[in-house]
Amino acid sequence: MIPEGSLLAAHDLRKTYGSTPALDGASFSVHPGEVVAVMGPSGSGKSTLLHCLAGIVTPDSGTITYAGRELSAMSDAERSALRRSDFGFVFQFGQLVPELTCVENVALPLRLNGVKRKAAERTALEWMERLEVEDLGAKRPGEVSGGQGQRVAVARALAGSPKVVFADEPTGALDSLNGERVMELLTEAARSTNAAVVLVTHEARVAAYSDRDVTVRDGRVRDLEHSA
Ligand SMILES: Nc1ncnc2c1ncn2[C@@H]1O[C@H](COP(=O)(O)OP(=O)(O)OP(=O)(O)O)[C@@H](O)[C@H]1O
Ligand SMILES: [Mg+2]
Repeated sequence: MIPEGSLLAAHDLRKTYGSTPALDGASFSVHPGEVVAVMGPSGSGKSTLLHCLAGIVTPDSGTITYAGRELSAMSDAERSALRRSDFGFVFQFGQLVPELTCVENVALPLRLNGVKRKAAERTALEWMERLEVEDLGAKRPGEVSGGQGQRVAVARALAGSPKVVFADEPTGALDSLNGERVMELLTEAARSTNAAVVLVTHEARVAAYSDRDVTVRDGRVRDLEHSA
Protein backbone atom coordinates (compact mmCIF):
# COMPACT_ATOMS: atom_id res chain seq x y z
CA MET A 1 0.00 0.00 0.00
CA ILE A 2 2.89 2.37 0.74
CA PRO A 3 5.25 2.58 -2.23
CA GLU A 4 8.72 1.43 -1.22
CA GLY A 5 11.18 4.16 -0.34
CA SER A 6 8.56 6.88 -0.16
CA LEU A 7 8.80 9.56 2.50
CA LEU A 8 5.19 10.67 2.34
CA ALA A 9 2.38 8.54 0.95
CA ALA A 10 -1.39 8.96 0.75
CA HIS A 11 -3.71 6.08 -0.04
CA ASP A 12 -7.33 6.36 -1.19
CA LEU A 13 -8.10 9.77 0.31
CA ARG A 14 -11.68 10.96 0.34
CA LYS A 15 -12.83 14.38 1.44
CA THR A 16 -16.24 15.95 0.92
CA TYR A 17 -17.23 19.55 1.60
CA GLY A 18 -21.02 19.51 2.04
CA SER A 19 -22.09 17.64 -1.07
CA THR A 20 -18.93 18.54 -3.04
CA PRO A 21 -16.40 15.72 -3.27
CA ALA A 22 -12.97 17.42 -3.25
CA LEU A 23 -11.02 14.14 -3.08
CA ASP A 24 -12.49 10.91 -4.35
CA GLY A 25 -9.97 8.12 -3.85
CA ALA A 26 -6.73 10.05 -4.31
CA SER A 27 -3.41 8.26 -3.85
CA PHE A 28 -0.02 9.92 -4.01
CA SER A 29 3.54 9.43 -2.85
CA VAL A 30 6.85 11.23 -2.93
CA HIS A 31 10.42 10.09 -2.27
CA PRO A 32 13.10 12.01 -0.36
CA GLY A 33 14.65 14.58 -2.68
CA GLU A 34 11.98 14.15 -5.34
CA VAL A 35 10.18 17.13 -6.87
CA VAL A 36 6.64 16.22 -7.93
CA ALA A 37 4.48 18.68 -9.85
CA VAL A 38 0.74 18.34 -9.19
CA MET A 39 -1.27 19.70 -12.08
CA GLY A 40 -4.93 19.66 -13.07
CA PRO A 41 -7.92 21.93 -13.65
CA SER A 42 -9.26 24.47 -11.17
CA GLY A 43 -11.41 22.81 -8.53
CA SER A 44 -10.02 19.33 -9.20
CA GLY A 45 -8.72 18.89 -5.64
CA LYS A 46 -5.04 19.86 -5.86
CA SER A 47 -5.00 22.20 -2.85
CA THR A 48 -7.15 19.82 -0.83
CA LEU A 49 -4.68 17.02 -1.56
CA LEU A 50 -1.75 19.21 -0.53
CA HIS A 51 -3.50 20.29 2.68
CA CYS A 52 -4.27 16.67 3.57
CA LEU A 53 -0.68 15.57 2.91
CA ALA A 54 0.56 18.39 5.13
CA GLY A 55 -1.79 17.46 7.97
CA ILE A 56 -3.67 20.76 7.72
CA VAL A 57 -6.94 19.17 6.56
CA THR A 58 -8.13 15.80 7.85
CA PRO A 59 -9.53 13.53 5.13
CA ASP A 60 -12.86 11.74 5.71
CA SER A 61 -11.11 8.45 4.96
CA GLY A 62 -7.87 7.06 3.63
CA THR A 63 -4.39 6.97 5.10
CA ILE A 64 -1.41 9.31 5.04
CA THR A 65 1.95 7.97 6.13
CA TYR A 66 4.94 10.19 6.77
CA ALA A 67 8.31 8.60 7.58
CA GLY A 68 6.55 5.44 8.74
CA ARG A 69 3.99 7.20 10.96
CA GLU A 70 0.32 7.57 10.18
CA LEU A 71 -0.83 11.19 10.43
CA SER A 72 -4.32 10.26 11.62
CA ALA A 73 -2.82 8.37 14.56
CA MET A 74 -1.14 11.54 15.81
CA SER A 75 -2.69 14.10 18.12
CA ASP A 76 -3.26 17.65 16.83
CA ALA A 77 -0.27 18.77 18.89
CA GLU A 78 1.95 16.09 17.34
CA ARG A 79 0.84 17.05 13.85
CA SER A 80 1.54 20.73 14.55
CA ALA A 81 4.97 19.85 15.90
CA LEU A 82 5.67 17.76 12.81
CA ARG A 83 4.62 20.62 10.51
CA ARG A 84 6.98 22.95 12.35
CA SER A 85 9.97 20.62 12.39
CA ASP A 86 9.72 18.76 9.09
CA PHE A 87 7.57 20.72 6.63
CA GLY A 88 7.99 24.01 4.80
CA PHE A 89 5.19 25.89 3.06
CA VAL A 90 4.88 28.33 0.20
CA PHE A 91 1.48 29.56 -0.91
CA GLN A 92 0.50 31.99 -3.62
CA PHE A 93 -0.39 34.97 -1.43
CA GLY A 94 -0.58 36.30 2.05
CA GLN A 95 1.44 33.86 4.08
CA LEU A 96 3.86 36.39 5.56
CA VAL A 97 3.09 37.84 8.98
CA PRO A 98 2.44 41.55 8.29
CA GLU A 99 3.61 42.76 11.71
CA LEU A 100 7.05 41.17 11.36
CA THR A 101 9.91 42.40 9.18
CA CYS A 102 10.96 40.22 6.26
CA VAL A 103 13.99 38.83 8.08
CA GLU A 104 11.84 38.06 11.14
CA ASN A 105 9.37 36.28 8.87
CA VAL A 106 12.11 34.12 7.36
CA ALA A 107 13.54 33.41 10.82
CA LEU A 108 10.14 32.51 12.27
CA PRO A 109 10.18 28.73 11.58
CA LEU A 110 13.63 28.51 13.17
CA ARG A 111 12.53 30.57 16.18
CA LEU A 112 9.50 28.27 16.61
CA ASN A 113 11.89 25.34 16.62
CA GLY A 114 13.87 26.89 19.46
CA VAL A 115 16.76 28.50 17.55
CA LYS A 116 18.02 31.68 19.24
CA ARG A 117 17.20 34.98 17.56
CA LYS A 118 20.72 35.84 16.38
CA ALA A 119 21.44 32.44 14.86
CA ALA A 120 17.96 32.27 13.33
CA GLU A 121 18.33 35.69 11.71
CA ARG A 122 21.79 34.81 10.40
CA THR A 123 20.42 31.71 8.68
CA ALA A 124 17.42 33.74 7.50
CA LEU A 125 19.70 36.30 5.88
CA GLU A 126 21.69 33.57 4.11
CA TRP A 127 18.48 32.30 2.57
CA MET A 128 17.38 35.81 1.68
CA GLU A 129 20.69 36.26 -0.13
CA ARG A 130 20.11 33.07 -2.09
CA LEU A 131 16.69 34.38 -3.09
CA GLU A 132 18.23 37.79 -3.85
CA VAL A 133 16.08 39.69 -1.33
CA GLU A 134 18.67 40.29 1.41
CA ASP A 135 18.18 44.08 1.09
CA LEU A 136 14.58 43.75 2.24
CA GLY A 137 15.36 42.38 5.70
CA ALA A 138 14.15 45.41 7.64
CA LYS A 139 11.00 45.97 5.56
CA ARG A 140 7.56 44.66 6.37
CA PRO A 141 5.66 42.50 3.86
CA GLY A 142 3.31 45.43 3.09
CA GLU A 143 6.30 47.45 1.89
CA VAL A 144 7.63 45.01 -0.74
CA SER A 145 6.31 43.96 -4.15
CA GLY A 146 4.34 40.77 -4.71
CA GLY A 147 7.30 39.09 -6.37
CA GLN A 148 9.69 40.15 -3.63
CA GLY A 149 7.26 38.94 -0.97
CA GLN A 150 7.09 35.58 -2.71
CA ARG A 151 10.86 35.23 -2.65
CA VAL A 152 10.80 36.04 1.05
CA ALA A 153 8.15 33.35 1.50
CA VAL A 154 10.30 30.80 -0.34
CA ALA A 155 13.29 31.73 1.84
CA ARG A 156 11.11 31.18 4.88
CA ALA A 157 9.91 27.78 3.66
CA LEU A 158 13.51 26.63 3.14
CA ALA A 159 15.25 28.24 6.13
CA GLY A 160 14.22 25.52 8.56
CA SER A 161 15.74 22.73 6.40
CA PRO A 162 12.40 20.95 5.95
CA LYS A 163 12.14 17.33 4.81
CA VAL A 164 9.12 18.20 2.66
CA VAL A 165 8.30 21.51 1.01
CA PHE A 166 4.66 22.06 0.08
CA ALA A 167 4.20 24.73 -2.54
CA ASP A 168 0.77 25.76 -3.88
CA GLU A 169 1.17 27.93 -7.00
CA PRO A 170 4.39 29.43 -5.59
CA THR A 171 5.16 31.38 -8.74
CA GLY A 172 1.60 32.32 -9.62
CA ALA A 173 2.23 35.96 -8.69
CA LEU A 174 5.65 36.28 -10.32
CA ASP A 175 6.73 37.31 -13.80
CA SER A 176 8.33 34.52 -15.80
CA LEU A 177 11.94 35.51 -15.04
CA ASN A 178 11.33 35.70 -11.29
CA GLY A 179 9.22 32.57 -11.45
CA GLU A 180 11.96 30.55 -13.08
CA ARG A 181 14.60 31.83 -10.67
CA VAL A 182 12.42 30.88 -7.71
CA MET A 183 11.81 27.42 -9.18
CA GLU A 184 15.52 26.99 -9.79
CA LEU A 185 16.37 27.91 -6.19
CA LEU A 186 13.58 25.86 -4.73
CA THR A 187 14.49 22.71 -6.63
CA GLU A 188 18.25 23.24 -6.16
CA ALA A 189 17.80 23.61 -2.40
CA ALA A 190 15.53 20.60 -2.24
CA ARG A 191 18.02 18.44 -4.12
CA SER A 192 20.97 19.63 -2.04
CA THR A 193 19.19 18.82 1.24
CA ASN A 194 17.34 15.74 -0.11
CA ALA A 195 13.99 17.38 0.70
CA ALA A 196 10.89 16.31 -1.19
CA VAL A 197 8.83 18.98 -2.94
CA VAL A 198 5.10 18.75 -3.61
CA LEU A 199 4.44 21.51 -6.09
CA VAL A 200 0.93 22.48 -7.20
CA THR A 201 1.04 24.45 -10.43
CA HIS A 202 -0.95 25.35 -13.52
CA GLU A 203 2.13 26.29 -15.48
CA ALA A 204 3.85 23.75 -17.71
CA ARG A 205 7.10 25.75 -17.52
CA VAL A 206 7.10 25.34 -13.73
CA ALA A 207 6.52 21.62 -14.07
CA ALA A 208 9.66 21.52 -16.22
CA TYR A 209 11.66 21.70 -12.97
CA SER A 210 10.02 18.60 -11.52
CA ASP A 211 11.21 15.00 -11.55
CA ARG A 212 7.70 13.68 -12.03
CA ASP A 213 4.28 15.11 -12.85
CA VAL A 214 0.87 13.93 -11.74
CA THR A 215 -2.57 15.23 -12.71
CA VAL A 216 -5.54 15.59 -10.38
CA ARG A 217 -8.92 15.23 -12.01
CA ASP A 218 -12.23 14.98 -10.16
CA GLY A 219 -10.45 14.31 -6.89
CA ARG A 220 -8.29 11.47 -8.19
CA VAL A 221 -4.60 11.42 -9.04
CA ARG A 222 -3.23 10.18 -12.33
CA ASP A 223 0.44 9.53 -12.76
CA LEU A 224 1.33 10.96 -16.16
CA GLU A 225 4.09 8.42 -16.73
CA HIS A 226 1.57 5.61 -16.54
CA SER A 227 -1.01 7.21 -18.81
CA ALA A 228 -0.78 8.29 -22.46
N1 LIG B 1 -12.89 24.84 2.58
C1 LIG B 1 -13.73 24.47 1.62
N2 LIG B 1 -15.05 24.53 1.81
C2 LIG B 1 -15.91 24.11 0.85
N3 LIG B 1 -15.53 23.61 -0.35
C3 LIG B 1 -14.22 23.53 -0.59
C4 LIG B 1 -13.25 23.95 0.36
N4 LIG B 1 -12.02 23.74 -0.15
C5 LIG B 1 -12.22 23.23 -1.39
N5 LIG B 1 -13.53 23.09 -1.65
C6 LIG B 1 -14.11 22.51 -2.90
O1 LIG B 1 -13.43 21.30 -3.17
C7 LIG B 1 -13.10 21.19 -4.55
C8 LIG B 1 -11.59 21.08 -4.72
O2 LIG B 1 -11.00 22.32 -4.32
P1 LIG B 1 -9.44 22.59 -4.35
O3 LIG B 1 -9.22 23.89 -3.68
O4 LIG B 1 -8.74 21.43 -3.79
O5 LIG B 1 -9.17 22.70 -5.91
P2 LIG B 1 -7.84 23.10 -6.70
O6 LIG B 1 -7.56 22.00 -7.65
O7 LIG B 1 -6.78 23.50 -5.75
O8 LIG B 1 -8.33 24.38 -7.54
P3 LIG B 1 -7.51 25.71 -7.98
O9 LIG B 1 -6.64 25.30 -9.13
O10 LIG B 1 -8.60 26.64 -8.42
O11 LIG B 1 -6.75 26.22 -6.81
C9 LIG B 1 -13.74 22.40 -5.22
O12 LIG B 1 -14.99 22.04 -5.71
C10 LIG B 1 -13.85 23.40 -4.10
O13 LIG B 1 -14.91 24.29 -4.33
MG1 LIG C 1 -5.82 25.32 -5.35
